[in-house]
Amino acid sequence: MAASGSAVGLGNIWGFPTNAASNGGAAFLFTYLLLAFALAYPALMAELIIGRHARANSIAALQGISRGPKTRVFAIFVGGLGILTVSFILSFYAIVSGWMMAFFLDPIARLAGAEQLAGWLTTDGEWRNGLFMLGFMALTIHIIRAGVRDGIERWASRLMPMLIGILLLLIIYVLTLPGAMDGLRAYLVPDFSQIANPRLLVDAMGQAFFSLSLGVGTMLIYGSYISKRENLPVTGSLVALLDIGIAVIAGMLILPAMYVALAGGVEIFNPDGSLVAGPALIVSVLPELFGAMGPVGLFVALAFFLLMTIASLTSSISMLEVPVAFAVEYLGMARGRAAMLVGAGVAGISLLIVLNFDPLFDLVVNWATEVSQPLLGFFFCIFVAWIWRRDAVLAEITEGAPGAQSGLFWKIWPLYVKFVCPLAILVVFLQSWNW
Ligand code: PHE
Repeated sequence: MAASGSAVGLGNIWGFPTNAASNGGAAFLFTYLLLAFALAYPALMAELIIGRHARANSIAALQGISRGPKTRVFAIFVGGLGILTVSFILSFYAIVSGWMMAFFLDPIARLAGAEQLAGWLTTDGEWRNGLFMLGFMALTIHIIRAGVRDGIERWASRLMPMLIGILLLLIIYVLTLPGAMDGLRAYLVPDFSQIANPRLLVDAMGQAFFSLSLGVGTMLIYGSYISKRENLPVTGSLVALLDIGIAVIAGMLILPAMYVALAGGVEIFNPDGSLVAGPALIVSVLPELFGAMGPVGLFVALAFFLLMTIASLTSSISMLEVPVAFAVEYLGMARGRAAMLVGAGVAGISLLIVLNFDPLFDLVVNWATEVSQPLLGFFFCIFVAWIWRRDAVLAEITEGAPGAQSGLFWKIWPLYVKFVCPLAILVVFLQSWNW
């Protein structure tokens, strides 16, 4: 539940649907499904297996499976880059999540008759962005301070079912509105001319990595908390299935919702004909849609932004856990202190981005998710398939899955992480340099 909570986030509910929309609908869906199952799932397994084996933070874990001084240095580099990357991811994630919280409070302010406050909450500004980012970081730090069982697990298993429930209710509602079917068509009817577009592959790969929280040590550290009795290939598949499933389902909400907004006179296309995506979608198109619904819209907005806040929170705690686990295990800090210090550091970076939004925001997002994450995914595959001893890998998988040696997973997965994954990641990575 916690690992799925990490995986399911802003990436699923708005990243995936809008990526699909601007890349030919079902053509993207198809490519994404293929890449997610064939490449991202094996990479997820690599992280989970290393983590459960080492029972430690990412640097110590990678060092534990190293073989000699060179690979030990490489382990520090990969683990360290992961910690750095996830801290930067959290620094932009907290800003966007702050918007979600502000938009969640907006209907409440309006119900209370505080129109001026509502206006402030929904207008872009440094004060609003800064304050809500800090509020969101405070929540994240609070949960992480409580530790794994009382913090992460308890909250993830409370929040995840709520999220799925709200998502389904919203879909049912939006599908009854005029225009919704056009959206569903845009999402599910493939535009195969797009398949040849190389951008589609790059986007689908990046989306799959971001969505499954790969490369940065999040899944490694969550793997380290999984019991030895648990069947890892099954746990991993459940996480991947839930993450992919929620992304696909979220598409059924977001795309129809955009076309409902279009039918209501809201502009959903950019001047170049592409669909509005990214932050602009959630904070401009959807609120307009909710506004057009009249009084019901207030409650739909409330539910939707609550959903987004929950999804963000179960992801952000998994991000902060990476540097915090490192500080606790490696530097010997107390958990509460580590959460406060690291959290404050990330909030500091976040504040810098808030105050210099235009030059910094896209830069940090692109560096972290398009350059660093795929590269780290590549390194993880190298570690598990080329550096770690094969019999040790098998021994770890066999714990909790006694028949694994003769199972399908062990027949396919080792070859995949050895050759297919690194090569494919490298190809996509090199391509993304050209854009
Ligand atoms: N998977 C999360 C999402 O889809 C983002 C994330 C990335 C979480 C990296 C943890 C680590 O929103």
